[in-house]
Amino acid sequence: MSGKVDMDKIVSLCKRRGLIFPSSEIYGGLASCWDYGPMGVELKRNIRDAWWKAIVQERDDVVGLDTSIMMHPGVWAASGHIDSFTDPLVECKSCHLRWRADRIEGQGCPKCAGELTEPRMFNLMFKTFMGPVEEEASTIHLRPETAQGIFVNFENVITTSRKKLPLGIAQIGKSFRNEITPGNFIFRTREFEHMELEYFVKPGTDEKWLDYWVKERFDWYVKLGIRKENLRLRQHGKDELAHYARDCHDIEYLFPMGWSELEGIANRGDFDLIQHAKCSGKELSYYDDEAAERYVPYVIEPSAGVDRSVLAFLIDAYDDEEVEGEKRTVLHLHPSLAPIKVAVLPLSRNEKLAPLAKDVYKQLCPSFMTYYDDSQSIGRRYRRQDEVGTPFCVTIDFESLEDKQVTIRERDSLAQIRVPIEELKKILEAKLKGEAFDASPLWATRQK
Ligand code: GAP
Repeated sequence: MSGKVDMDKIVSLCKRRGLIFPSSEIYGGLASCWDYGPMGVELKRNIRDAWWKAIVQERDDVVGLDTSIMMHPGVWAASGHIDSFTDPLVECKSCHLRWRADRIEGQGCPKCAGELTEPRMFNLMFKTFMGPVEEEASTIHLRPETAQGIFVNFENVITTSRKKLPLGIAQIGKSFRNEITPGNFIFRTREFEHMELEYFVKPGTDEKWLDYWVKERFDWYVKLGIRKENLRLRQHGKDELAHYARDCHDIEYLFPMGWSELEGIANRGDFDLIQHAKCSGKELSYYDDEAAERYVPYVIEPSAGVDRSVLAFLIDAYDDEEVEGEKRTVLHLHPSLAPIKVAVLPLSRNEKLAPLAKDVYKQLCPSFMTYYDDSQSIGRRYRRQDEVGTPFCVTIDFESLEDKQVTIRERDSLAQIRVPIEELKKILEAKLKGEAFDASPLWATRQK
């Protein structure tokens, strides 16, 4: 939908259907922190899994890693984050609200038009103390990107994986940034999850690999159902490049507040390996036996946010429709992302139907995330599943007791087919992979 859907509708659906809740809500919430509920945790896990499958599992030139959030203080000095990971901060002299100077229009405070202080550079890393003594020497930072855990393990991975360059190292994990102005729901938060790939290449081949990864990553979103017209590429101007980047292309999505960054793909050159080699005293280079030469690899970095992807997938899938004279809210999510794949719904809560319906549920749940629901009318149960994007509902009726067949209803087309219970699992497997129902599901037509 996007462009048309407003964020309040997404926030309200997320709360109502157990996707995302305000954090610490019973205490009044904590600004810009959010908790993923039973449906949200599945959606988020499916996005992570889809990324890992495309980036690690289906490639022989990428391996995975999981490094610690707290790292040696020297890492952040070497990486440039202590000196350069800053945003310009201004404060209103009247109401004392703080703003990012580069994100406000006009001269005065956006809230009260009061006079603003001169900008000062504010470091975005969270600080804490390691161990029982709270002193300068025990100060450490929570990582603002997962990338540095990869760079400091470059030598470990190269020597143990026995792989040749080009080689990628991928990581998914939490990052923390003390953003001056978080907001727009889960778009910008202070605690979020990164999906990052550091792809090490021979210098001179970096531009080719940058183009390659920009295309790969753009196509990944389209393959998972985001409409092409809601995505665009934007190259960074020289003045907006991060301190480590030689070049960077953002994949932007048309969020309700306008075109905004969804993922960045940067050419980090040899900046990080050179810095860590200099500051740690360890050589970080690669011996290329085919070319019989040693060099410091360049790095291409596709860096995506899990939470921001969740938001884009939700917005793009969201629709308010009128079907059969009734209004429904539906998420046209790609089946691989849908929190629940199949809902098993006995026509009514009836003691004759329950044993067969529970049997069907038990047959399906080892293979798919399956949901059993026998409360309220069948129409309301369909609507509840539509709202969380469940691709298929399986209905068990009184005829099922006789003919051992059930009805499958497809979320987007609302088409229904009747199938034998003993073939149900096989049929659902094929349909979840995109085999045509009566009509092609919407997510499959969007890929064309
Ligand atoms: N290692 C490179 C890096 O972190 P970035 O452009 O700062 O690059 C990459 O971040 C992605 O991480 C962004 O495109 C966005 O999806 C996500 N991200 C960054 N800051 C975020 C925040 N405060 N809240 C949510 N997601 C964020």
